[in-house]
Amino acid sequence: MSLLILKGLSGGYGEVDIVADIELTVGAQEIVTIAGTNGAGKSTLVKALLGLLPQVRGEIVLDGQSLSKLAAEDRFYAGLAYVPQVANVFGSLTVRENLLVVRGVQQLKTRLQEVLELFPTLVEKLSQRAGNLSGGERQQLAFARALMPSPKLMVLDEPTAALAPALVEKVFGLVSQLPARGVAVLMVEQRARQALAISQRGYILDQGRCVLSGLASDLLADSKMTQLYLGNR
Ligand SMILES: Nc1ncnc2c1ncn2[C@@H]1O[C@H](COP(=O)(O)OP(=O)(O)O)[C@@H](O)[C@H]1O
Ligand SMILES: [Mg+2]
Repeated sequence: MSLLILKGLSGGYGEVDIVADIELTVGAQEIVTIAGTNGAGKSTLVKALLGLLPQVRGEIVLDGQSLSKLAAEDRFYAGLAYVPQVANVFGSLTVRENLLVVRGVQQLKTRLQEVLELFPTLVEKLSQRAGNLSGGERQQLAFARALMPSPKLMVLDEPTAALAPALVEKVFGLVSQLPARGVAVLMVEQRARQALAISQRGYILDQGRCVLSGLASDLLADSKMTQLYLGNR
């Protein structure tokens, strides 16, 4: 059975549905990419999943548990992690403090060591204030914070959007290590080719509907699809 199941998910910010009839799954060991042009509804779909969209219909099941009626905070406790586009870390706290204040973490010190294995740069900066980190380091810290409670699924909305080109590969490298550590990934990306290259499957949204889905390798090999929906990135 899939880790995440979206069934007939529709919704928006008011009367009008922005996303409609979305059927989507993520397996326990999978990275899945959602691609599509600007305004296609990708972020709206992410908000629906996280419990941040005012009007939603349909079913959301994570690891057998229905999330559809849960508030955003309870979805977090159910195993849904999210790294926002603008990394939200506490600038006046140290890196270590930022990691230790995360709610809902069992065995805090052990978990800290496990998470830090993925972030060698942060290990050297544990005592520095987060406000003094570079943009890339701050994003690493936001990732690390999201991983602290051992989430089942990491949701990412354009994780590379605000990054210098040199850091983009690092983020994709980090994301690709998550399934082996027990965290599946659902990722929205403008750099769809690069995202699909580290994904097992992908979904293409257009005007709020899923117009195409399949194995990432098949999507990448479909030249009509890539021209229509993936542009040159
Ligand atoms: N807070 C909002 N209130 C009303 N409409 C919104 C809001 N956010 C986005 N939209 C509309 O929803 C549509 C999809 O936007 P979005 O989900 O952000 O697309 P994408 O992430 O694929 O670029 C757009 O037409 C956008 O104008
Ligand atoms: Mg968006």
